[in-house]
Amino acid sequence: MNEYDSDRIRTALGAEATDDPKRADVIIVNTCAIRDKADQKAFSSLGKFKSIKAGNPEVIVGIAGCVAQLYGDSLLKKMPHLDFVLGPRAIPKLPEIISRINLDKIRAVETSHDIEELFNVEPYHRAGGVTAFVSVQQGCNKRCSYCIVPYVRGNEVNRPLEDIISETRSLVNKGVREITFIGQTVNSWKRSGYKFGDLLRAAGEIQNLGRIRFTTSYPRDITKRMIDAMKEVPQICPHIHLPVQSGSNNVLSKMQRTYTREWYIDTVKRLRDEVRDLAISTDIIVGFPGETDKDFEETMTLLEEIRFESVFSFIYSPRPGTPAAQIEGHTCVEKKDASARLARLQERQSNITFESNTNRVGMIEEVLVEGPSRKGTSFVTGRTAQNRITNFRGPRALTGNVVTVKITEGLQNSIRGELVV
Ligand code: 5AD
Repeated sequence: MNEYDSDRIRTALGAEATDDPKRADVIIVNTCAIRDKADQKAFSSLGKFKSIKAGNPEVIVGIAGCVAQLYGDSLLKKMPHLDFVLGPRAIPKLPEIISRINLDKIRAVETSHDIEELFNVEPYHRAGGVTAFVSVQQGCNKRCSYCIVPYVRGNEVNRPLEDIISETRSLVNKGVREITFIGQTVNSWKRSGYKFGDLLRAAGEIQNLGRIRFTTSYPRDITKRMIDAMKEVPQICPHIHLPVQSGSNNVLSKMQRTYTREWYIDTVKRLRDEVRDLAISTDIIVGFPGETDKDFEETMTLLEEIRFESVFSFIYSPRPGTPAAQIEGHTCVEKKDASARLARLQERQSNITFESNTNRVGMIEEVLVEGPSRKGTSFVTGRTAQNRITNFRGPRALTGNVVTVKITEGLQNSIRGELVV
């Protein structure tokens, strides 16, 4: 989402990008507030531009994204070298803000949530890019007790189906082969009587669109219509990112996730029964306030029961304004215990991921080639339908094509193969 917003900022500015901040007329740090670490990174990034601004007062320095939204105008007081603060919903206002700063020499804060034409600014698209994101939804209507997103990105706003499809079509005309629909709870998308399954089917009608992905799915918003679309539309990749967050009912309830461990396991079973060769990835938080050793063990056993293809895991980070952050200190998990839990979970999952990668050896898979591999010029890289990064020997001219690859080796974070001709 953050990356997508950076590309939208670039379009809104209508400017050329430079890697050298000393040459820039405008410097914008786009930020994430999901965990404290991301939030801290924003400030250290901004600090680096202090001396540039001192050397050239004409340069405009701004902060965008969720950290901007969270702290608002207090950022101007804290950082005298800052010219503007721009919330994630206010990206369409960026040109206006820049010209106001240039003309009136004032500092600006735009954190309103009532921005019309929220989806008006399409992201910058890199020439030759094979994959692209398409935003279908902004904000979130869930209220997971740990999560800051609804407070900084606001409530869910769903984009009209026609707009999503026309943006997707225009990307396909620019050479994009694979699109990923993005939304905080992408599968809760609905608009004018259409549901998420209908959107997937509409995308399936687009000529020359090879692959359709979507992220992130909210477990309770999985519907039969959505599963049927995944089953019946061949372009939809057999992969779902389905954050579980914890394997303990006690913790899930405190997190306000609205489902139980048993319900999640059943749902995964149903998905796997219906969608052939479905890969499932997830997000897990460890060290949520009140998480006992027993609760954590339940998360560990869930790894065995589900055998996720991959897991993104995090230590709980209290976020300002969220209900979980109000929980009294004595029920909180000590940092060293949370770190030990995270290390154990990651160690176990890395073996499961490795085994699942190794199990693909000998299989024939379709890979969308995204470009030359980092490994060297004679290798190219792409992803299988299940979303595994795949490297194999082949000419870079294959970029943008779906090719057939025989898998020869499973690694920790990727697989290797041979082109089948
Ligand atoms: N602390 C730690 N991890 C969090 N996430 C969201 N909020 C927090 C938090 N306060 C994680 C969740 C979510 C992912 C995007 O980030 O696992 O799915």
